[in-house]
Amino acid sequence: MFSVLLVCVCTFEVTLASTTPITTSAYVKVLKQGFSTNYFNALNFDSVYDMQNVKDVYAKGFRNLRIPCRSDLDGFNMTEFLTNLETVVDDCLDVGVTPVVSWIQAEAKGNATTANQQDYLQWWKDVATQLKDKDYRLSFSLFADWTEAAVKIIRNSGGNNKNRVIMLASSKKDDEYVMVEAHTYAAGPQNQYEDGKCSGSPPRCWEDDGIKIGKIIIDKNIDDATNNKTTSGLQVYWGAWSAMDNKSGTLNQTEVIDFCKYFVNALKTESIPWSLNVLDMFYDTTRSIWLTGLQTVKDQQFNMSLILDAIVENM
Ligand SMILES: *[C@@H]1O[C@H](CO)[C@@H](O)[C@H](O)[C@H]1NC(C)=O
Ligand SMILES: *[C@@H]1O[C@H](CO)[C@@H](O)[C@H](O)[C@H]1NC(C)=O
Ligand SMILES: *[C@@H]1O[C@H](CO)[C@@H](O)[C@H](O)[C@H]1NC(C)=O
Ligand SMILES: *[C@@H]1O[C@H](CO)[C@@H](O)[C@H](O)[C@H]1NC(C)=O
Ligand SMILES: *[C@@H]1O[C@H](CO)[C@@H](O)[C@H](O)[C@H]1NC(C)=O
Ligand SMILES: *[C@@H]1O[C@H](CO)[C@@H](O)[C@H](O)[C@H]1NC(C)=O
Repeated sequence: MFSVLLVCVCTFEVTLASTTPITTSAYVKVLKQGFSTNYFNALNFDSVYDMQNVKDVYAKGFRNLRIPCRSDLDGFNMTEFLTNLETVVDDCLDVGVTPVVSWIQAEAKGNATTANQQDYLQWWKDVATQLKDKDYRLSFSLFADWTEAAVKIIRNSGGNNKNRVIMLASSKKDDEYVMVEAHTYAAGPQNQYEDGKCSGSPPRCWEDDGIKIGKIIIDKNIDDATNNKTTSGLQVYWGAWSAMDNKSGTLNQTEVIDFCKYFVNALKTESIPWSLNVLDMFYDTTRSIWLTGLQTVKDQQFNMSLILDAIVENM
């Protein structure tokens, strides 16, 4: 799966504000590795966000926060949302963590009605305008189907938006600041079989240490993302991946750790930046502490702290 990301990028190491556009090959080094967040998944921003979150994420070695945003919530107030979003973006840029703003709408996704498209374009217009003067490290991740119109709106919204990097589903070779976003493993590795063969589109199986089933599948999925003919030449961002099978719980903790080690190393070898799903699995954003207790996901118990250690050691 690919979706679109509009990126506002900067040339130097993170803590430096960037006043000149960042090439996509430089931007992958700015993005590095990070987490996806739930700050705008519900209307509870004040209780789930604290700037300390960003500092802790940085201190652990992570350098980006993906910020998916919903606007289809009952009682949603655009003015308040924009203020809160700007707070997170500014905190990230101050601390040296690259913010990636994206749009999610449970219902509208996969339902490309005209009304939904209008909402989507208006949302990007408002967000792009609000954030137009942020330095080039900020980036935007777009939803594939309505990309072209949204790109135009963002490009025309002024400030630094003219030369921000855009991550696209399909090639758009006439725009220099475009990247492609991969979402395979967004819900983790998953063991689904049909006639004894790993199924799923694309297949994402992982068993045991991955030697018999797992490593080759990861290699193929990464190869497909980096050597995709329609997007060839574009830098890849692994926009979201999960450590564990969060749909059916087919992997135990040992397997999850082995999967993470291999996957993170493989992405590092290809210099692919990524965001891990999701910060809340590893960190209590309300209390600003890393989780060390056991967590149950789909009937499997995990010590997320051990999983995180394995990721950090290999990234
Ligand atoms: C949205 O929030 C702002 C600021 O709190 C407030 O002034 C405005 O009346 C709210 N709008 C709606 C439609 O509730
Ligand atoms: C798509 O949107 C229309 C109009 O808002 C709604 O009636 C329909 O149920 C939606 N379909 C899906 C699959 O969400
Ligand atoms: C290549 O990219 C296109 C466009 O995003 C996508 O539809 C296709 O599935 C990708 N191919 C592979 C093998 O990943
Ligand atoms: C599993 O991951 C997917 C993709 O990120 C997400 O949409 C879903 O909410 C997750 N489910 C659980 C139970 O965490
Ligand atoms: C995890 O799964 C693997 C492969 O099925 C198995 O060999 C191992 O004993 C399991 N580990 C635990 C702690 O359950
Ligand atoms: C989880 O692992 C960490 C080490 O990273 C350890 O400090 C903690 O006690 C473990 N938690 C449990 C419940 O075993």
